Amino acid sequence: MYRTHTCGELRIEHINQKVTLAGWVQKRRDLGNLTFIDLRDRYGITQLTFSSDINPELLEKARLINREFVIQVTGVVRERENKNPNLPTGDIEIIVEQLNILNPSLTPPFTIEDQTDGGEELRMKYRYLDLRRNPLKNNLILRHKLALETRKYLDALNFLEIETPFLIKSTPEGARDFVVPSRMHKGEFYALPQSPQTFKQILMVAGYDRYFQIVRCFRDEDLRADRQPEFTQIDCEMSFVEREDILQTFEGLIRHLFKTVKRIELSEFKRMSYDEAMNYYGSDKPDLRFDMKFVHLTDLLKDKGFKVFDASETIIGIVLKDQASATRKQIDEWTEFAKSPKVGASGLIYIKYNEDGSIKSSIDKFFNTEQLVEILHSANAEKGDLMLILAGEKWKTLKGMGQLRLHLAQQLNLIPNNTYACLWVVDFPLFEYDEEEQRWVSMHHPFTSPIGDLTGNIADIKANAYDMVINGTEVGGGSIRIHNKETQKKVFELLGFTEEEAMKQFGFLMNAFEYGAPPHGGIAFGFDRLTAIMCGVDSIRDVIAFPKNNAGRDTMIDAPSEINEKQLEELGLIINQNAS
Ligand code: AMO
Repeated sequence: MYRTHTCGELRIEHINQKVTLAGWVQKRRDLGNLTFIDLRDRYGITQLTFSSDINPELLEKARLINREFVIQVTGVVRERENKNPNLPTGDIEIIVEQLNILNPSLTPPFTIEDQTDGGEELRMKYRYLDLRRNPLKNNLILRHKLALETRKYLDALNFLEIETPFLIKSTPEGARDFVVPSRMHKGEFYALPQSPQTFKQILMVAGYDRYFQIVRCFRDEDLRADRQPEFTQIDCEMSFVEREDILQTFEGLIRHLFKTVKRIELSEFKRMSYDEAMNYYGSDKPDLRFDMKFVHLTDLLKDKGFKVFDASETIIGIVLKDQASATRKQIDEWTEFAKSPKVGASGLIYIKYNEDGSIKSSIDKFFNTEQLVEILHSANAEKGDLMLILAGEKWKTLKGMGQLRLHLAQQLNLIPNNTYACLWVVDFPLFEYDEEEQRWVSMHHPFTSPIGDLTGNIADIKANAYDMVINGTEVGGGSIRIHNKETQKKVFELLGFTEEEAMKQFGFLMNAFEYGAPPHGGIAFGFDRLTAIMCGVDSIRDVIAFPKNNAGRDTMIDAPSEINEKQLEELGLIINQNAS
């Protein structure tokens, strides 16, 4: 037997027992005739003691052992003289009688401690060492518990976990596909799924009623802290449901996860239309942990003789509580941020409502005190507050103010820790205009059903779609689907597909709709994002065992990499010039 106990297990009640432990050497301390080794495994750390009084030879051997050696020891559990209250095993130590070096280790390139000195690239290359550290280990344990509790919750509601294929067909909608060349059908390609969307809909047509899958998805898009080329979804679909059924069922899932895994009872899930989110927070995923709702000032300020405002489509303000004392330097920094590409404004206007009731503003010259007071009061600003105003083209100004709102909240520490502001954003537009492609595209995906019919101005058609947002992150999104062929055909037509193209790409789905497709809808959660929020980390890389780096590379295995000529030839990607 390699071990009788783990390194996190022994307590005062084990005193005098003979035990065998195995694990990694966290650190070694030599003190004259004593050597201490902290032995670590997944479960914790136990102190090993080697003493010259007990066994001088063993002490010498222990002194040859370095960090990250894998060793096995047998000894007796003893109560410690100097207890360590910070360690669950801190009341005991092992007086070692036998020591077996199972495998030595090179000196690791960074310290394996909670706070490490290793940079991101180094830690990625030696991911197996990074994964030994507690923060990553705890994240992966939490991830496992979330997956387990998800399965329990959905199973209790009759959902079936059903696998769908990874080698599918490339489609032009959505993000770019990763493609896989076919050896047997040279010149043809599979694509890796961006999500199991059409398969889960087909399962509804097949009568499976309630489906879910914790499933890997692949998207060839630019990476950010919350995006990976391969990521995991909790993908779900239900038949015979309306939007409300889905919102209730999956609000229930998230409540269950927070309760069972984090012991947190979530408060209310707010609901907000897409229009309200954009107009008052400048984002379709507003962070509601703090307030700073926009104040619309266009009617009040336009056409009052100040050129900048008069030339603007939209004028909006936000109130910063108790910030009238902001320094010139601070306001200059915020102005720079407003002018940066992230916001793209031509400038930032301020009105300070000082404690003594006096007002100082960058638009003093254009508006008299009475008018400034009116602006402040329309925004419910109080003495001591600061108001900031942006003006310009509507969408740019709204989105820009949304960025500024986040920047200010972070900088002024207005975001409370350990709070979870959960929100459903509903009533998205069905289509949005893609400037790059110069055409209308689906805001969610082409299978989303419209609210009402598909007539009227294309920009005004709303989708029966919803996103779940937690703390300003989109953790999930879904919709009620189209389940009849005619509506589906019409959507493809509006997206600019010819009938042949639509049938070629999605004929299988539209044909299925002709064989008794039930009304259905669903949602998919970004499992990595949800886990990151629950772990309190900023990057989803910290909740994925083997993530890709910023450039989409796995530097540990060195992927992507070239393949040899023989492979290229077999796949029909090059032609062998020598072949006759
Ligand atoms: P959507 O594209 O909104 O919907 O994806 C669902 C959720 O997946 C997460 N997500 C990502 N996480 C990490 N890295 C990425 N690159 C990435 N892309 C998306 C987000 C997002 O909310 N089939 C539909 C769902 C449906 O309609 O049921 C879909 O995939 O948290």
